[in-house]
Amino acid sequence: MTDRPDLAPVVGAPAPDAFPAGPAADAASAAEIRGRRQWPLPKQADPDAPLLVVEDLRVHFSLESGSVKAVDGVSFTLRDGEALGIAGESGCGKTTTALALIRILPGNAKVMGGSVKLFGIDLVPKTDTALRRYRWREISLVFQGAMNALNPVKRIGEQIAEPIVVRLGQSQADADRRAGDLLELVGIPRQRARAYPHELSGGMRQRAMIAMALACDPAIVIGDEPTTALDVMVQAQILELLERLRRELGLSLILITHDLSVIAETCDRVLVMYAGRVAEEGPVAEVFTRPRHPYTQKLLGAFPNIHADRRTLEVIPGAPPDLRTPPPGCRFHPRCPLVLPVCSEVVPPETTFAGVRVACHLYGPESDGSPVPVPSLAAGVDAPLTPDDGAGPAGPPGPSFADVVAEELAATTPAHIGSLDHSISPVRPPGEDRRPGEDA
Ligand SMILES: Nc1ncnc2c1ncn2[C@@H]1O[C@H](COP(=O)(O)OP(=O)(O)OP(=O)(O)O)[C@@H](O)[C@H]1O
Ligand code: SF4
Ligand SMILES: [Mg+2]
Repeated sequence: MTDRPDLAPVVGAPAPDAFPAGPAADAASAAEIRGRRQWPLPKQADPDAPLLVVEDLRVHFSLESGSVKAVDGVSFTLRDGEALGIAGESGCGKTTTALALIRILPGNAKVMGGSVKLFGIDLVPKTDTALRRYRWREISLVFQGAMNALNPVKRIGEQIAEPIVVRLGQSQADADRRAGDLLELVGIPRQRARAYPHELSGGMRQRAMIAMALACDPAIVIGDEPTTALDVMVQAQILELLERLRRELGLSLILITHDLSVIAETCDRVLVMYAGRVAEEGPVAEVFTRPRHPYTQKLLGAFPNIHADRRTLEVIPGAPPDLRTPPPGCRFHPRCPLVLPVCSEVVPPETTFAGVRVACHLYGPESDGSPVPVPSLAAGVDAPLTPDDGAGPAGPPGPSFADVVAEELAATTPAHIGSLDHSISPVRPPGEDRRPGEDA
């Protein structure tokens, strides 16, 4: 795996006629990206199928006090080489959605319905044993807080090599070599393979977690708040690393984060979830500059931006609902400033405008898809800062996060990511074209 020309850069690219397609928008680039992987597609795969198609996914948790409808009809697609950000307030089902893809769920969770098609293969009806073949090999995870995820009494090299031996049946010597290569790939000298997790800094541990996630050469890496516990400088380095790996290795990323600026900088598309459902989904540039769903607008308005002049942040009144007894109709209706009579009775259907899906009654068949602005703080919902608050004089309302994103997208040229000059030991022994235990 030495030949890794850069993939077409997309993130942060200027948007000549509105919004560019993702890096894997066409079949040719999808084939190129798939060709970079060391393994052929699983035998049951449909080579023409998209990488990942999730449809109407539903996951409930059983509690004595009732059933928590944590994920209730979530659908999305992830294409080869694409980065999808998942945003939303705490408890809206981001982690549960991600864990449900490969069913690494708590014991009281159950996938109630829907499909998760990877290369056209539906993973939902698969038994746990059958699904093991897809975990880490096709889809792997980087969790928040590597200290909790890494085994404190095992050297990091051993931990990276373990799945290569156990899941791929490689010899210990080959696995150790690959573990060293992967450490170098993520910016850790291979000699540090002998270190224990507590001997590494937080950023190094998170890099080691990423190396573990890459151990079996997966197609998709899911990062669940992968930078949350890190300081901003290290955060930036880890995000740059993920972005670089995406381009160089042809990875697809699902990035779950509360930090909308991370999604703006790293992702091609964004999925905004509210109370277990998709509120809005589409290209980052379109959704962040012309948010249509009132919840997306409120979420963006509530996000601080250090590049903007001082402005009073929006607040989203109320709190997300108890998902044991979610509100009928649109789940956002008790908090929505534009609520209509129909909203408390009928679940809003999804409508698509300019590649953006939005589930809101404001955008029915009569709508042309133009965003309907929600009342904002600028209209006097909250008092602006005053000189008396100790923070200095407040200026006029500054640009919103959406304005700043629009400006930066227009000004930014695609970041050049240097080619990684690492040759990684293959996970596939010469002459083998299928992994041990591969589906017949
Ligand atoms: N094991 C569990 N048993 C019962 N309910 C659960 C369990 N795990 C999560 N939940 C509930 O499921 C819903 C979705 O939780 P989830 O962790 O997916 O949200 P999230 O969007 O990832 O939140 P956060 O941003 O805080 O990580 C929440 O209402 C949460 O309380
Ligand atoms: S469907 Fe109704 S309540 Fe829900 S976001 Fe749209 S306008 Fe608001
Ligand atoms: Mg979570």
